[in-house]
Amino acid sequence: MSVLNSAADQAICQPLPVLGRDVRVPLVAGGEVTYAALDYAASAPALQRVWDDVAAYAPYYGSVHRGAGYLSQLSTDLFEQSRSTVAEFLGCRADDQVVFTRSTTDSLNLLAAVLPPGTRVFVFETEHHASLLPWRDGDVSYLSAPRTPREAVDTLARALADRAPHGPALVCVTGASNVTGELWPVRELAAAAHAQGARIVLDAAQLAPHHPVDIAELDVDYVAFSGHKLYAPFGSGVLAGRADWLRDADPYLAGGGASKKVARRADGTVDVEWHTTAARHEAGSPNVIGGYAIASACRALTEAGFGPLVVREQELVSRVLSGLAGIPQVKVLSLFGEDAPRVGVISFVVEGWNSSHFAAALSAEYGIGVRDGLFCAHPLVRTLLGSAPDALGECGAPEAEPGELPQPHGGTPSLNAIRVSFGAGTPDEHVDRFLGAVAELVRDGAKWNYRTEDGRCVPDRG
Ligand SMILES: Cc1ncc(COP(=O)(O)O)c(C=O)c1O
Repeated sequence: MSVLNSAADQAICQPLPVLGRDVRVPLVAGGEVTYAALDYAASAPALQRVWDDVAAYAPYYGSVHRGAGYLSQLSTDLFEQSRSTVAEFLGCRADDQVVFTRSTTDSLNLLAAVLPPGTRVFVFETEHHASLLPWRDGDVSYLSAPRTPREAVDTLARALADRAPHGPALVCVTGASNVTGELWPVRELAAAAHAQGARIVLDAAQLAPHHPVDIAELDVDYVAFSGHKLYAPFGSGVLAGRADWLRDADPYLAGGGASKKVARRADGTVDVEWHTTAARHEAGSPNVIGGYAIASACRALTEAGFGPLVVREQELVSRVLSGLAGIPQVKVLSLFGEDAPRVGVISFVVEGWNSSHFAAALSAEYGIGVRDGLFCAHPLVRTLLGSAPDALGECGAPEAEPGELPQPHGGTPSLNAIRVSFGAGTPDEHVDRFLGAVAELVRDGAKWNYRTEDGRCVPDRG
């Protein structure tokens, strides 16, 4: 999936200004350091531009779709313009709907709720839980982890040929893995789905912040993503795509805003006419700031240009991968192979270290924020680690007696991993500090003692 079209696209841009870039955090041994936010895959910092746009709008804040006053009218217009901006950002087709939700999780649950009865769902076991879990149990076919993009397409094609009913079918696939950052062959999977009459939804939670996502060009039927991973942390997400299933299903939430006309019948019941637009699934007062913030982020990324942003990010990816490759104790996790194209999301384990211990030391001793654990993709991480399907580790730490640090696992598979992730706001220094810290911790060990408290590994200050 290449986004580099012209020579101008090859130019590297500077990091985009983000909030928190000057925040200082204390180090466990004393002193403080500028925080290195390397957990973009969980939540990215807000773009300064998004914050400024929201601040400029805030005095004009008003109710949406329910007010005669000037500010209500203005807020309604802004909310609807935001919808159009998102549609443009995603390259939506003329008859697609853009529904504002709370998050990717909410978007995929909404889609699950509007599936026509009997829809068969196909999903790889490697998905984030948000893509894996919303579907009704009996209707889902879970597909085994493929080890190449080609195998993914073949696995899906075979499963659809074997199991797709004559009725509706939906494939749910991620664009970029939240564990390995690897890109999935979305266009090819979409073609395989459509060849069997199935629809496909793209979980773009990790793709949209790093790559342009064009619904029509990828030929996917739906796209879901979250504002807080797209530098717009104001509680909104998006589900965009084909209108018919959305229009034909009951509203996701029943209430004001979704209903066009409500009347009491003579028999005492209530007759409701629901909207057929996106409003059908946006009952209650919409999150105008959340929607506006997403639109602002879409504009900012488009204006900065994905071409230069991707070039810069790929340079950081190469730097991290080659830095980690120079430390023999570090093993980077990958489904499709070391050279597979990926976004700025990289997970790894360190021989002889518990990942929670390692992540805690990065934070306490170097001011670096990464994530440890199974990253809400338990089956995938366990496959990559070769650990038992029921091994613990969601919060990173295997169960330990209170106060006792889980020990490094000599020879046994790690129970969890460390994830470093970055994006449009990441300065080189954060990546360099991270690589220096990993090398130093592996060479010298942690300088502090740590213990487990409430399932989290923390410095022992006692
Ligand atoms: C690939 C992927 N899908 C879905 C989600 C869920 O996103 P949210 O927590 O914003 O609903 C995430 C979050 O990490 C993700 O990485």
